[in-house]
Amino acid sequence: MIHTTINGEQRQLTNTHPDETVAEFLRSTGLTGTKIVCNAGTCGACTILVDGTPMCGCLLPVHHIEGRQVKTVEAFSAEKLHPVQRALMAHDGLQCGFCTPGFIMSGIAFYEIWQRDHPGETPSRDKIAAALSGNLCRCGAYAGIYDAIQSACAGEFDSITEIVAPRYEALEKITGRARYTIDQHYSDQLEGVILRSIHPHAKIINIDASEALAIPGVFAFTELLENDRIVRYTGQEIGALAAVDLRTARSSLSKIKVKYQVYPAAVGTQAAKADGTPVIYPGFFRKPPIAAEGMTFPGRWQKNLRVSLLKPTAKSARKAQRMINQARSNHNPNLIERTFHNAIQVHTPWEPHVCVAKWNDPQHLTVHLSTQSVHGSAHVIAEHFDLEDENVILVAEHIGGGFGSKQGVTVEGIAAITLARLTERPVRVFLNRLEELSFAGYRPGTEAILSVLTDDEGHLQALSTTSWGDAGIAIGNGVSFFIGAYNPEEIPRNTIDIDVINNNPPGSPFRGPNGPQALWAWEQMIDETAHHLGKDPIKLRKQWYPEDELRHKLLDWAASLPVWQNRDTNQGEDSRFKRGVGLSVSAWPFIYNGNTKVTVGIRKEGLYVKTGTQDIGTGTRTLLATAAAQGFGIATDHIQVIVGNSNAPLGPASAGSQAANSVYGPAVSAAQMLKTELLTLVQD
Ligand code: FES
Repeated sequence: MIHTTINGEQRQLTNTHPDETVAEFLRSTGLTGTKIVCNAGTCGACTILVDGTPMCGCLLPVHHIEGRQVKTVEAFSAEKLHPVQRALMAHDGLQCGFCTPGFIMSGIAFYEIWQRDHPGETPSRDKIAAALSGNLCRCGAYAGIYDAIQSACAGEFDSITEIVAPRYEALEKITGRARYTIDQHYSDQLEGVILRSIHPHAKIINIDASEALAIPGVFAFTELLENDRIVRYTGQEIGALAAVDLRTARSSLSKIKVKYQVYPAAVGTQAAKADGTPVIYPGFFRKPPIAAEGMTFPGRWQKNLRVSLLKPTAKSARKAQRMINQARSNHNPNLIERTFHNAIQVHTPWEPHVCVAKWNDPQHLTVHLSTQSVHGSAHVIAEHFDLEDENVILVAEHIGGGFGSKQGVTVEGIAAITLARLTERPVRVFLNRLEELSFAGYRPGTEAILSVLTDDEGHLQALSTTSWGDAGIAIGNGVSFFIGAYNPEEIPRNTIDIDVINNNPPGSPFRGPNGPQALWAWEQMIDETAHHLGKDPIKLRKQWYPEDELRHKLLDWAASLPVWQNRDTNQGEDSRFKRGVGLSVSAWPFIYNGNTKVTVGIRKEGLYVKTGTQDIGTGTRTLLATAAAQGFGIATDHIQVIVGNSNAPLGPASAGSQAANSVYGPAVSAAQMLKTELLTLVQD
């Protein structure tokens, strides 16, 4: 038995597992403000105070808290807010909020020491950075976090109790009350885990789960295979198992026997391009996953290469290529050619991919899913499980980040729902951090070969770009397409996009799919050209985009900054370390979802605004409250915002830069209409 004190309450812990960590234990008792992210002591999301010292709950065995005083974020509730919490609210030092409790606990520990040793002083940013170096924020809310801790330590929030928080749901997030899908718990809930392929390319001949199913506490197993039963990357999901708890589920996976017919594999783009390499999608009917957002252009397949057939942003492509080829054979000094590589980049949202599924009866389903689209996902689930749309209720109250990887319904959703149906009990399936980093998607890697031809004055004459995308078994490379779209209409240009399909996990859409790779390469190409021609990089940009007034204003502003004016252009030339000041300007289109519906209504508690969108940390709740307040002419704190439920009127996905644009206008209009109607009623 372990005797300890948690948030001031004496506790006697019995039946704890010897391997159980403090973070796991706390969460199992409902103290879900303590988050588990990396589960390896790196990110600090699970930070708690043990006798006042910040510690990673995920590294502490539960017996470590024998005789200790433990504090979690729940100790600092809305009635007992710490100055650090108030400062975080005021400075908006949070987005999705999943890292926030960990930052608060580290921040409180630093605040207490700072105020004791340096009363009335303000800590430097470096001191704060050092104190918070054990905490990571995936959303990148560091500027607000640092400002908050600095002003809290300086005593600015010691006596302030009325906080104006820019973010609608800030109080829920800074007290650990915000409920994420990973926190969802039904009393009879089972835990599901995923069985993955150990080969990069194979046919699954047989799966025998009988030994695993005979283990006490194991409830069900289901296969998760495509019709062809072929796996195309190591780690591809082939089944899922549900058990009474995670330990039982994970240990039982090893008892499942899988018979593979192993095929030769092409792991990586070099292997996929090599002579005699195995073809990953043979035959005519191929259905590769898509790593770009939305549509892809038709392509011509050549073994593992897929060349985009359409070039909508090219202009006089043959002429452009002819000019480049000619300049190359003439050794024209105004032809500059460079190759740019970018590695893959994983999304790793702080809340993992997670689903908790519960069948209310054989035709009615409640799904808690960490998703970027409550309506879209509910529809996909209804189709997949042959249900009426209205019989699927999808809930995503708070979402700990998505970054593009939580669009649609991924494997944890299908696995949890299937296992819940088989067991007739609620089932949770989530990806651990290794799975999250390896199999949950990534921004594809790219090789982009750029050729630029200028005249003697540096005017752009022609360009050609060929990009090779590495999205594993997925397709959707459009890096050259974006470079083409980014250039003035009259410039002749050839744009070639090629996918190199190989036996690696599929990439997936990631914040502005294809855009960052394209603009990263293109902006560097402009710098390379400026360097080659001995021209100022800002002046060259203005020369190449003469009609773009907005871009010129941004460039003029950048040129006026001291950091640009005082830069040392030779910095690092003679050193191992190259340092410099760079500049780039980019643009991104946005989408308006015209099907969006927003309801603004009134009930005795006050005004509410409701739509079937979700807030992944991007501030959708705040935006809706602001819009309804503007339309009705009252303050935002009188408005209740209801999002994150597919029961609400059709709302947009948090993808394609569409949520904010699509909900704001309808919310203002709905509030105005309600006000007009109420005024008419009063006058009547
Ligand atoms: Fe820090 Fe999202 S706010 S991870």
